[in-house]
Amino acid sequence: MKLAVTGKGGVGKTTLASLLAYLYAEQGRTVLAIDADPSPCLGAALGFDPAALQRLTPIAAMAELISERTGAQPGTMGGYFRLNPRVDDLPDRFALHERGIRLLQLGAVGKGGSGCICPESVLLKQLVAHILLRRDEVVLLDMYAGVEHLGRATAEAVDALIAVVEPGKRSLDTAAQIKRLASDIGLRRLYLVGNKIQTAADAGYVAAHSPGLPVLGYLPYSPAAQAADRAGQAAYDAVPALVTAAREIAAALERALAGAPAAT
Ligand SMILES: Nc1ncnc2c1ncn2[C@@H]1O[C@H](COP(=O)(O)OP(=O)(O)O)[C@@H](O)[C@H]1O
Ligand SMILES: [Mg+2]
Repeated sequence: MKLAVTGKGGVGKTTLASLLAYLYAEQGRTVLAIDADPSPCLGAALGFDPAALQRLTPIAAMAELISERTGAQPGTMGGYFRLNPRVDDLPDRFALHERGIRLLQLGAVGKGGSGCICPESVLLKQLVAHILLRRDEVVLLDMYAGVEHLGRATAEAVDALIAVVEPGKRSLDTAAQIKRLASDIGLRRLYLVGNKIQTAADAGYVAAHSPGLPVLGYLPYSPAAQAADRAGQAAYDAVPALVTAAREIAAALERALAGAPAAT
């Protein structure tokens, strides 16, 4: 099972990814959680040991590794470097393992304008491709708003792209944009999850304004989620209402993937 979670900043992508990671780990499945946000916070949402997280270096920040694998210094552009660096050993070497979940932090890629091809972005894309295409485990990709790190070659391997939205216009506009980007690279199974839902009208708003994506389910707004965030606790441990809702979402996803193939 390979899932990618995307959506506008602050909608709850990381919260949902952390809940799903624990739900799959609970079933005894091997879970690889990938933090693809340039400012990593999935580890904190998982409630992992802060000292261990502090010691974790994102792959994009491993200058020596990047130059060893690509033949070029990170941050450089142009020039020559390998476009197919070796990456197969990286998940096991650099993931932080806690409570049945392995966490890999990708880190921030230097921005060199659109279409930037720099050694670190090549390494990350190759790494994500390797994980999606070659590794046999539950993969949860916690992304930034968009489909960065995915491409035509990997779209097929993504079982589902979940766009998280709040009951508001802006996050639904972002979901519509994501839908366009996703269809550009041939990603077909897209779903929506509504988060921070307080009333039936909130859920109704999300359903009515979905950009044509099936809604997998809803997560309730919960002040306990913010308290858990501040306390460095996992929502999985501290917010039972979110766990229950995420369980229903995982079940809905299972049914959706078994049945209808694609969004239109
Ligand atoms: N259902 C919810 N109820 C209340 N607060 C939430 C809920 N889901 C997420 N949050 C809070 O919103 C903030 C952003 O959530 P996060 O999962 O980090 O979003 P993203 O990864 O999309 O940027 C966090 O402080 C988180 O605790
Ligand atoms: Mg996040």
